[in-house]
Amino acid sequence: MSSVTVYPCTLSGKLSVPGDKSISQRVALLASLASGTSEISGYLDSEDAQNTLKAVKELGASYHLKSNGNLLITGVNGFFKPPNKPLNLGNSGTGSRLLAGLLAGSGINAEIIGDESLSRRPMNRIQDPLSKMGAKIKFEDQSCTLPMKIEGGGLTGITYHLPVPSAQVKSCVLFAGLFAKGETKVIEPRPTRDHTEKLFQHFNIPIEVNGNQITIDGDVLSTEVFACKDTDIPGDFSSAAFWITAATCSKESVVLINNVGLNPRRTALLNVLKRMGAKINIKNKISNSEPFGSIEVYGSSLHGTVIEGDEVPNLIDELPVLAVAGALADGDTIIRNAEELRVKESDRIHEMVKSLRKFGVRVDEFEDGMKVYGKAELRTPSESISCNGDHRIAMSLAILNLFSDGSLEIDHVECVDTSYPTFWDDLTLLGGRVDRICK
Ligand code: S3P
Repeated sequence: MSSVTVYPCTLSGKLSVPGDKSISQRVALLASLASGTSEISGYLDSEDAQNTLKAVKELGASYHLKSNGNLLITGVNGFFKPPNKPLNLGNSGTGSRLLAGLLAGSGINAEIIGDESLSRRPMNRIQDPLSKMGAKIKFEDQSCTLPMKIEGGGLTGITYHLPVPSAQVKSCVLFAGLFAKGETKVIEPRPTRDHTEKLFQHFNIPIEVNGNQITIDGDVLSTEVFACKDTDIPGDFSSAAFWITAATCSKESVVLINNVGLNPRRTALLNVLKRMGAKINIKNKISNSEPFGSIEVYGSSLHGTVIEGDEVPNLIDELPVLAVAGALADGDTIIRNAEELRVKESDRIHEMVKSLRKFGVRVDEFEDGMKVYGKAELRTPSESISCNGDHRIAMSLAILNLFSDGSLEIDHVECVDTSYPTFWDDLTLLGGRVDRICK
């Protein structure tokens, strides 16, 4: 097991964060299916993104890292080959659910497996639409969790009202719809991240977005598959969120983060922090297929707020670190409508409530969120703390302890490698202190 000890500190400086995880995995899937070779800059070098690449290689695509760091992916021209073994997506909900859509559509028989955390996460949410389109999705038991066997092909387009606001489910259905007969329409209850829609446009795949309805016509692709496309992937806003939050909560901090994705369906954290009193400037914003730019953060004093409704899917991955901001703010911070947090890499409501209490923060737990009582006098627990194998919990605890009164040991931090393997180096780069321990 690998652990770290982290110390209280004020962070300042500038950095770039690694490539966006959601976009990297979608690009890997699309470039693998396309005809020809796509050159990709900024592809995330993390376990989740690498597992997606390994899976598409098993399906016949090939990839190669150039000396300039760009990734070349050569696609299968519309025809995946049957895999010789189960496809192991490790910890990645995005990789497993989106790939399931592609496999169901393409008619390859395959099995998807994952690590302990992914094997606990609900897959009935994709079984339902994929079965309605005509695929056979089988689990070993009633729990509807991985391992999952997929027998697809011959799908028919459907109109699907998403029962949960999930970009993964939306994208799974759209990927399956690429191969289905006729139109596939997804209707969202709340707006979720739209990287799939943007990348379909980037790869010249016809897609219609009309308010909360997204439609693709599988018949368009029945004669010819789409072509490869060079793609630049910006830094991951969800990784930047840790530094944005740390800087904004500490009066003396100034942090500049360059080349970060600024898709509005991802950056609701900025709106919330600004509402709480943060000083944040966006600089050099450029819009390619995805908007990106620099984020400059000056430390300030925050006050509590309420986070609920349509804002929630657009900061879903930032809620653990936002709870940290809540503990430091003046007044109370209330998070509601965030029940999806319970089915992430861990039950993130439970994990954050438990950990904040260990630091002496007063928190009420709700089924769909929490109330964090602000201006907490943080006390670092003397025992080491567990992140329960969840990368975003591990990183949020490291940020929390920056504002506490002693050194904190966090166990099982190898999970951080799933999304942000250079997190501890970047913490050091901004002036933080980290000791690594291998047990
Ligand atoms: C993701 C969507 C979100 C998010 C996850 C990545 C994606 O999950 O929490 O980290 O890449 O589409 P849900 O769609 O399940 O909410």
